[in-house]
Amino acid sequence: RKVVFSGVQPSGALTIGNYIGAIRNWIDLQDEYECFYCIVDLHAITVPQEPKELRKNTLNLLALYLASGLDPEKSTIFIQSHVSAHSELTWVLNSISYMGQLSRMTQFKEKSQRSEANLNAALFTYPVLMASDILLYQTDLVPVGEDQKQHLELARDLGERFNSKYSETFKIPEPLIKKVGAKIMSLQNPESKMSKSDADENGYILLLDKPDAIRRKIKRAVTDSIGEVKYRDEQPGIKNLMNIYSIFSGESIENIEAKYEGEGYGKFKEDLAEVVIEGLRPMQEKYDYYMKNKDYLEEVYKNGAEKAERVARKTLRKVYKKVGFIPR
Ligand code: AQP
Repeated sequence: RKVVFSGVQPSGALTIGNYIGAIRNWIDLQDEYECFYCIVDLHAITVPQEPKELRKNTLNLLALYLASGLDPEKSTIFIQSHVSAHSELTWVLNSISYMGQLSRMTQFKEKSQRSEANLNAALFTYPVLMASDILLYQTDLVPVGEDQKQHLELARDLGERFNSKYSETFKIPEPLIKKVGAKIMSLQNPESKMSKSDADENGYILLLDKPDAIRRKIKRAVTDSIGEVKYRDEQPGIKNLMNIYSIFSGESIENIEAKYEGEGYGKFKEDLAEVVIEGLRPMQEKYDYYMKNKDYLEEVYKNGAEKAERVARKTLRKVYKKVGFIPR
């Protein structure tokens, strides 16, 4: 069976962007592929984290994974720091990574500009860790949002570079990026992506936002003065809201345009809020259930780590041998 790998950082509460661009697409893959879904806590510390918060966010994210429909009977669900091979392979891949290429990564450029205080070496080598995550499992497909495309390209480069420098070791992965919803934009600034670390909380909707917060944020979402619910580039705010509407309701963009023909934005926004609230409700209910079952969460991440470890070790052993490290 083909292998799928993906992950999300426990760097805060998830937005509907993380859900639409990533997790939502993971669910269906579980039946057809051998899936590894990781909570990438090593990635999270590339920006400052409060230890207590990180612990909390990690468990919350696991509960959200399960509430979204990830099934530990079908997929390997685990926490990155539990499988040390991720860090170990990163060191080896660092040795074949070029500073120039890493400094061209858009995420590094953006995050390093955001705050001087955030700059650390781990932020710089973040994509090398991500390459290790993927390559360790001999991954075929990586379902991610559009923003991760460049990092995936680097993972492919590193895999190929290692294979040609030593010998065939890694499977070269392909990105799996859905056309619709690959990039959900900020509600306050439709030119930039919706991000959980946005300082303005009106820019994002969280998966666990209460109905009132959702209504308020959508009401305040930035639109334009054209006043027509039409899907076009001159109206990036409305276009983004229509994408969200379509994804949560299952209705086509054409249907939505027809439905709001001649209506202003008020009615459209009101309906959108209800569509999102209803769309999130089942997940929110399940999330509460899992959060009350901490023992079960522990069982899931322990079993997951064991399964992941076996696969990852096998690849790492090969890598160490090829590099010239003497086996113990
Ligand atoms: N706005 C988005 N639209 C579509 N997909 C998105 N993803 C993130 N934002 C959007 C996808 O979510 C997955 C996990 O992301 P991550 O938590 O590993 O980090 P990120 O991409 O950096 O997400 P954020 O929300 O922007 O986090 P912060 O603010 O902490 O950096 C990825 O597959 C990503 O494509």
